[in-house]
Amino acid sequence: MRAVLIKGGSGGVENLYIGEAPKPEIGSQQVLIQVKCFGLNRMDIAQREGRYPPPPGASSILGVEFSGVISEIGPGVEGWAVGDQVLGLAGGGAYAEYILVASTHIIKKPASMSWVQAASIPEAFLTAYQALVMIGKMQRGDDVLIHAGASGVGIAAAQLARFFGADTVTATASTQEKIDWLLKIPNGPTHAANYKTEDFSAVVKNVTNGKGVNVLIDFVGQSHFSKNLDALAVDGRMTMLAMLSGSVVEKVNLAPLLYKRLHVEGSTLRSRPAQYQADLIQQYDRVHHPHKPFTDDISRSIDSRQTHVTTFREKKGVNPLRRTFTR
Ligand SMILES: NC(=O)c1ccc[n+]([C@@H]2O[C@H](COP(=O)([O-])OP(=O)(O)OC[C@H]3O[C@@H](n4cnc5c(N)ncnc54)[C@H](OP(=O)(O)O)[C@@H]3O)[C@@H](O)[C@H]2O)c1
Repeated sequence: MRAVLIKGGSGGVENLYIGEAPKPEIGSQQVLIQVKCFGLNRMDIAQREGRYPPPPGASSILGVEFSGVISEIGPGVEGWAVGDQVLGLAGGGAYAEYILVASTHIIKKPASMSWVQAASIPEAFLTAYQALVMIGKMQRGDDVLIHAGASGVGIAAAQLARFFGADTVTATASTQEKIDWLLKIPNGPTHAANYKTEDFSAVVKNVTNGKGVNVLIDFVGQSHFSKNLDALAVDGRMTMLAMLSGSVVEKVNLAPLLYKRLHVEGSTLRSRPAQYQADLIQQYDRVHHPHKPFTDDISRSIDSRQTHVTTFREKKGVNPLRRTFTR
């Protein structure tokens, strides 16, 4: 089968090429999917650069989310048939013509959803759902702050927060262009802050009449940590998903943690046990699917992942905002 491979196993974007890889052989409880679209995530870049090895047992081919059609069913699989249209989550292997996954890691693609929309859901929306609802325990009427608001996961989190009835959703980003774009997303963030030029904790205090946010999703770590504690309301919950600015905070005042009874919890998805991922996918299927995600077909670069996509620009259907690559 054809797959996007990396010359020498790791390197810059120029090392990506489309070559031949063995078609995976089906096993029990597995389904083989003919991939229609896959999503591009920041972790793909780290993996391509050799900074993020795939979890044990996962394909070394890039790509953790996809939409496609079931082409083979393994022994013991129930409830699925060849030809079913699905979307799914994988430990790797989505940048290819075929991907093998556990039958528990796919959900049905609604006919109303495009292949691109479907491929944009699994990694981004499941991560966001986990951070916002399962860990952040977001309730209707809560105020929410989402950092890296224009990231794939950030865009998903804002849409989910609105879907689950957040009162306000403030997203942070580094440029006015991103802020303007974020505020135009239907049912996306209600407010936005440019963290380069504004104090985001002051912005959310203003938005929430001094209360602060109930739920906060952070990807930034070090540079935002103290302001995050300040931005949280009493009993506020913060989920940490990444540490894009660094992991060491030299000086921190712990008092807000105590006096505001704050919860700070980290989370991962790719390294979680298969059963956890399966339960998450099924829960997401019940509570949010088939709500259509917002995708945008404008072809301007919104962030650094564009460089990862550029090599494949000659291919059709590249969507740089959710960076879904269509065969
Ligand atoms: N823990 C988990 O379960 C999990 C799962 C999936 C993804 N992730 C992580 O979540 C993050 C987002 O993933 P993604 O694929 O959605 O990323 P993405 O679309 O590539 O977006 C990343 C965004 O992060 C912001 N950023 C980069 N460096 C920053 C810095 N130093 N300070 C502040 N913001 C910075 C950038 O926005 P601005 O220029 O506007 O700042 C950029 O748009 C990644 O770090 C990824 O590894 C974690």
